[in-house]
Amino acid sequence: MPSALPDGEPVPSDGSLPAHALDGLGARPFGFYVHVPYCATRCGYCDFNTYTATELRSSGTVASQETYADNLVAEIRLARTVLGDADLPVRTVFLGGGTPTLLPARDLVRMLAAIREEFGLAPGAEVTTEANPESVDPAYLAELREGGFNRISFGMQSARPQVLELLDRHHTPGRPEACVAEAREAGFEHVNLDLIYGTPGESDDDWRASLDAAIGAGPDHVSAYSLIVEDGTKLAARVKRGELPMIDDDVHADRYLIADEALGKAGFGWYEVSNWATSEAARCRHNELYWTGADWWGAGPGAHSHVGGVRWWNAKHPAAYAQALAEGRTPGQGREVLPAADRRVERILLELRLVEGCPLSLLAPAGLEAAHRALDDGLLDPAAFEAGRAVLTLRGRLLADGVVRDLVD
Ligand SMILES: C[S@@+](CC[C@H](N)C(=O)[O-])C[C@H]1O[C@@H](n2cnc3c(N)ncnc32)[C@H](O)[C@@H]1O
Ligand code: SF4
Repeated sequence: MPSALPDGEPVPSDGSLPAHALDGLGARPFGFYVHVPYCATRCGYCDFNTYTATELRSSGTVASQETYADNLVAEIRLARTVLGDADLPVRTVFLGGGTPTLLPARDLVRMLAAIREEFGLAPGAEVTTEANPESVDPAYLAELREGGFNRISFGMQSARPQVLELLDRHHTPGRPEACVAEAREAGFEHVNLDLIYGTPGESDDDWRASLDAAIGAGPDHVSAYSLIVEDGTKLAARVKRGELPMIDDDVHADRYLIADEALGKAGFGWYEVSNWATSEAARCRHNELYWTGADWWGAGPGAHSHVGGVRWWNAKHPAAYAQALAEGRTPGQGREVLPAADRRVERILLELRLVEGCPLSLLAPAGLEAAHRALDDGLLDPAAFEAGRAVLTLRGRLLADGVVRDLVD
């Protein structure tokens, strides 16, 4: 099952925020995340906060998908009350999951309309939904586009049947590529494909074939993630039983190099360790908002929000979430005010993974010493270092987690 939420302090029942969090609201970029916690089936590797119909039935709860959009609209209205009447046009909206596209397109459009009605969208706002390839068709995509969505992210994962099978993915090879064409036809300006590398049994050639298929489909953004064996998943159980081997770090590093080369040749540049885009306009601005510590409201079960240094999270189960809203209470379950020291560490953790890197001035003396060592080891870019920034080289990206750990000292 999905990982647990932190404890934190309780959120007041009306969801109100401390006055200091509201200071400067509107001067910082503001976005909306909407979580849709339903999937047709659970992929063996995934520990996201999502539920299949069987899982909801077996937990003995009623958490109806039919009324989900109503609950979401109620939380969007609550957000407006909590944030007051500041001019707060939304720069990015991201519907993620789970599988948002398991709901009827009109529900997704209704949630977006509620955000537009309450806050307004900034000119050129980016409006994304995630989608599973088997859950959409041209009519569905056209309805989303007409309703204001302009970016879509498909979970492709792999082009190889045996890899898809091991991951419990139910789309046929070729379907994600067809989705890109259908999304373009429907008028989506930006299309992403998610890929996973390092699945047990996947060869370098399988991975190259997946990259070729993804690139050939013509998205303007690719996210490539190394397969993480999350505790409590079916995949973790199979690895533990010795049915599947753990993939070692060297294989993951080789696959990363293969990805960076193939994507680079095809005109995709990295802008975050796991993300490549064909231009600056094709970057995912919603994720950039997270990575740069902006403000966002996360609506839906288990969703996290961040406004002015206060972070809070909603009740995780869809039934508990729905009940709170039905009783006129915030679904917010816990919150924390981030101390300045934690915010500095978080900035380093996130910004160091970006192509712009993080300012050396953010590092403590021990972190700066580590940065000098990383520079000598070829993990940081010398020209950027000279200009006062820590930017990972290709080798640095392969060892990003370790470099980040050293620099936050
Ligand atoms: C929340 S999922 C939503 C996308 C959509 N439900 C789908 O699967 O097509 C976002 C992405 O996270 C990635 N992901 C999820 N679990 C992962 C894991 N354990 N290791 C690596 N990537 C993972 C997958 O690439 C997936 O497409
Ligand atoms: S479809 Fe997506 S969100 Fe649902 S279980 Fe699979 S990877 Fe997770």
